[in-house]
Amino acid sequence: MTGKQTMSKGKVNALLGIVFGDEGKGKVVDVLAPQYDIVARFAGGPNAGHTIMFEGRKFVLRSIPSGIFYKDRLNVIGNGCVIAPDLFMQEAKELEQAGYDLKGRLHISLKAHLILPTHRVLDKAYEAAKGKNKVGTTGKGIGPTYSDKASRTGLRVGDILDRFEEKYARLKARHEQILSDLHYTEYDITEEEKVWLEGIRYMREYTLADTETELNKALAEGKNILAEGAQGTMLDIDHGTYPFVSSSNTVSGGVCTGLGVPPSSIGEVFGIFKAYSTRVGSGPFPVELFDDTGNKIREIGHEFGAVTGRNRRCGWLDLVALRYAIMINGVTQLFMMKGDVLDTFDTIRICVAYEKDGVRTETMPYDCEGWNPVYVDMPGWKADLTGMVSADQFPSRFSDYISYIEKEMGVPITIVSVGPDREQTISR
Ligand code: GDP
Ligand code: IMO
Ligand code: MG
Repeated sequence: MTGKQTMSKGKVNALLGIVFGDEGKGKVVDVLAPQYDIVARFAGGPNAGHTIMFEGRKFVLRSIPSGIFYKDRLNVIGNGCVIAPDLFMQEAKELEQAGYDLKGRLHISLKAHLILPTHRVLDKAYEAAKGKNKVGTTGKGIGPTYSDKASRTGLRVGDILDRFEEKYARLKARHEQILSDLHYTEYDITEEEKVWLEGIRYMREYTLADTETELNKALAEGKNILAEGAQGTMLDIDHGTYPFVSSSNTVSGGVCTGLGVPPSSIGEVFGIFKAYSTRVGSGPFPVELFDDTGNKIREIGHEFGAVTGRNRRCGWLDLVALRYAIMINGVTQLFMMKGDVLDTFDTIRICVAYEKDGVRTETMPYDCEGWNPVYVDMPGWKADLTGMVSADQFPSRFSDYISYIEKEMGVPITIVSVGPDREQTISR
């Protein structure tokens, strides 16, 4: 595929989910990967579920970057990521069985943090203790692992190369003490721990590296890098709907800290969103639909979590969230996904502002709880987009929808996706 999203040499282009995650990042990273030398994940871990479909096959990647299906590309799990050795082993072996051997072309940062089995227990214990205010985490131990990183008690990938058993025993004992203090004692990690330790041995077969040095060397040689975001801006630890967020910086700033590349190396920032909105887990979601329309979007869009299978909450497109994310990330190009899901709707609504107690805002409020959406209605295009291969085939009402968003956001939409397959991707 060619188009405006082509990179400059020696730059890091970032592809970021700019709403609540699950925008279709995996699909587009896979489409763009042939244009890059390296694809690198910079944040998150197996809380992500990135779906890729081609040639009738479907893969859901969690920790492994979505550039892995092109055999001559290097893929990197950066220092800003957290990694669960057991889940990583399972994911890598599934790919090996499918014909994609990763060893040698997947490098893992020595500085990425390890998710322990007891981090997952802590995740559950903290959620249980929150009662009604649960975050609705993926249960993968993400928050407790990043907490240990910030507390300077965590274990890193580099630790598996030296006196690992001793370090592991110390951190596990610390976690057991916290769990005992919380009176959370109904857990048994015996079996899980065996697989996890096997995962540690398995990870040693990979290139565990100073990926920040490798990436900077690649940039100096004029190579280009695609940074693959996880989650989305509204789940960012600083800029999302705190406390209902994940635990890392998912925004463009996180690319620099999570890969160890300088701000001057960042080129394009691709902001990816769906033609409507979804959210999985708890927290404010002003555009959420509780009616048949919401159910219809969920059914047609198959909006069930790729990781947990949970129902995704659905609503119309939210330009307040989009505008905010474009600002925070410095988005230079927008990619719109899943327009085809709205093919049969008579009317399509777009949230252009929020309103509360007679106050209207187009900027994201500090606490977006309790705000109601203000909509603009547009006529549906009532046509099947899924077989279209170029933007000049789009029905005029769909083109109007795209133009309206571009005008309101002041950023061009350069990729439009009309189905889950690699081929159903249109450049404009
Ligand atoms: P990610 O986490 O951002 O990579 O997104 P997910 O994989 O969690 O969720 C996106 C879902 O939408 C996956 O099931 C994709 O196969 C699917 N998908 C991606 N793009 C399109 C599209 O344009 N149309 C349709 N109908 N499905 C899409
Ligand atoms: P991808 O990369 C959608 C949500 C969880 C929960 C909150 C915190 O596939 O877009 P965590 O386990 O991270 O502590 O959960 O964040 N969440 C996601 N929602 N897509 C994701 O990733 C997500 N990763 C985390 O549902 O509300
Ligand atoms: Mg996902």
